[in-house]
Amino acid sequence: MTIIMNIVPMLEKGNAMTAKPSVLITGASTGIGAAYAERFARRGHDLVLVARNTSRMEALAERLRGEVGVTIHIVAADLVDPQERATVEARLRDDARIGILINNAGASLGGVFIDQSVDDIDRLVQLNTTALVRLAHAIAPRLAQAGEGAIVNIGSAVGLAPEYGMPVYGATKAFVLHLSQALSLQLGPRGVYVQAVLPAATRTEIWGHAGVDVDTLPAVMEVDDLVDAALAGFDRREAVTIPPLHDLGQWEAFDAARQSMISGFGQSRPAERYRTD
Ligand SMILES: NC(=O)c1ccc[n+]([C@@H]2O[C@H](COP(=O)([O-])OP(=O)(O)OC[C@H]3O[C@@H](n4cnc5c(N)ncnc54)[C@H](OP(=O)(O)O)[C@@H]3O)[C@@H](O)[C@H]2O)c1
Repeated sequence: MTIIMNIVPMLEKGNAMTAKPSVLITGASTGIGAAYAERFARRGHDLVLVARNTSRMEALAERLRGEVGVTIHIVAADLVDPQERATVEARLRDDARIGILINNAGASLGGVFIDQSVDDIDRLVQLNTTALVRLAHAIAPRLAQAGEGAIVNIGSAVGLAPEYGMPVYGATKAFVLHLSQALSLQLGPRGVYVQAVLPAATRTEIWGHAGVDVDTLPAVMEVDDLVDAALAGFDRREAVTIPPLHDLGQWEAFDAARQSMISGFGQSRPAERYRTD
């Protein structure tokens, strides 16, 4: 009798521990976000899909519910709109089933800086940085409290390369990389995994929205290949995953060079080359 009473709570605890967390994916109506939704659904996770286009998310959800049988909720929200964004923040804060955030919604902007409208620039910065950091901030305390969970932030190789000529978009993606690396250092020891994913050109609608014909690009990755690679990095808990970079040593050398500068930043006097006395 005593043995049975001890086993039952153990089994119940075991079930709770093996229950898969729900995944909230922003920008899930198409492209990279929709591919993430497909992959996590097939892994048996319930989903919360966020974007503006409800009918596209409904169609995706209906197909996945039928094929995989997971529970999928849809939240229609323009993440540039503070009120609509607040509903997503509240969901991340309050819904204890959500254990993984895929911060994917993003946009690009065509043209050169001086021809871009400042309002378009502002919207881009709001979507690619403000929304992303607010959503991360909404879920992070709960995950840290639980001692588990994951935040995946979709950056871009452009964030490492001003030479691509996309100054504002690239700057927002440099923000994503820095934020992710710094959060990984702060939240990793609390049990929360933070991943930055840096795709390069991938075949989605983002290019058409920015006025670029994707078929004119020299090399383009298919979205399924990109997301499968990103999830391979996720599974091995990489802090930074760059699917198109074949030579990992290049990233490691770059990161090592950056880290080797840190000890030199604390100085009371300017460097010799700036001295005028
Ligand atoms: N494709 C590439 O070559 C590439 C390369 C590097 C990085 N990335 C990054 O990957 C991420 C996904 O891009 P993608 O290529 O999959 O682009 P996409 O096909 O254009 O999809 C963008 C997604 O974001 C959503 N979205 C856009 N504006 C939104 C807003 N104001 N509020 C809420 N949702 C919004 C869109 O849905 P609705 O229109 O329904 O709202 C859509 O689901 C972005 O962060 C992008 O910067 C892409």
